[in-house]
Amino acid sequence: NKETRKFRIGFSQCGDADDWRKSMLGEMKRELAFYPEMELLYKQADDNSEKQVQQVRALLKEKINLLIISPNEAQPLTPVVEEAFNSGIPVIVVDRKIASSLYSNYIGADNYQLGKMAGDYVASLLQGKGNIIEVTGLPASSPAIDRDHGFRDALNTFKQIHLIAKVPGDWIKPKAEKEISSLKQMLPSANLIFAHNDVMARGTYEACKTNGANNIKIIGVDALPGMGMELVSNKILTASMLYPTGGAEAIRNAVKILNGQSLGKETLLQTLVVDSSNVHLMKLQSDKMLSQQRDIEKQQDMLAEQKRIYNNQRALLYVLTCS
Ligand code: FRU
Repeated sequence: NKETRKFRIGFSQCGDADDWRKSMLGEMKRELAFYPEMELLYKQADDNSEKQVQQVRALLKEKINLLIISPNEAQPLTPVVEEAFNSGIPVIVVDRKIASSLYSNYIGADNYQLGKMAGDYVASLLQGKGNIIEVTGLPASSPAIDRDHGFRDALNTFKQIHLIAKVPGDWIKPKAEKEISSLKQMLPSANLIFAHNDVMARGTYEACKTNGANNIKIIGVDALPGMGMELVSNKILTASMLYPTGGAEAIRNAVKILNGQSLGKETLLQTLVVDSSNVHLMKLQSDKMLSQQRDIEKQQDMLAEQKRIYNNQRALLYVLTCS
């Protein structure tokens, strides 16, 4: 019940159509179960920056004590986040960045390093020689910009590697599929396609198949259990760069900030290459983690039930002793 809640956390998510965002919210909810004094107000903006600005304003009107935001695009969301921060509300930025340093804490992997890691991996896979196509995320979102920079910086040192095309996939499958199909003429000369996430890598795979380009290696990003990890294990993708969602960390950091603990400006999450050499191990680990999470959820449900019974009995006892 609302009376016992001490803090309201507003969470503005850019969209929630894909599994990666669903997994972020799932992580947050699991973590929140440990902090009954925290209430989460959640809004998602269907990948629309204007809608997200409105939703942040609505959250601020609801008197949130802290804002968590994963901004759709950096520039359009910057003013409203600055406004929130300047009015004294701590702000945690997750995954995508804003174009300002007026926030309390950023949580995410280093997307420049991730792009560089992908580039180094690709160069060694192709033994320093070949033609590459890049499918980027939404051009004005910070991970798309940073992954692209890192990737190109890594490839620049290899004179016989050529980036023959770069197309925007906007983080979504149908767009990536359409863009790759439009490069039909070029596909026979391509050796590898790097897509900025696994959803677009999947679209890329389907477009290649439709167009008879069956020898192109495809690399993605995210390596979500049951999703990208599965695509690597089925050899649909050659590799995927692990990109953690930061959901649990967002809640943990929010609790720390609300309890007056100080935090560094950045909470850096780790990333690594998932390919045929380690995907089996990664899957075992993530299966184990998922089963532990299910156990925790079961225990939390049982605890809630015990609490309900206890409260009922206490109420009954009160009635009995007063009568
Ligand atoms: C999910 C997603 C991920 C990607 C991240 C970048 O919406 O597209 O696949 O890694 O956002 O912000």
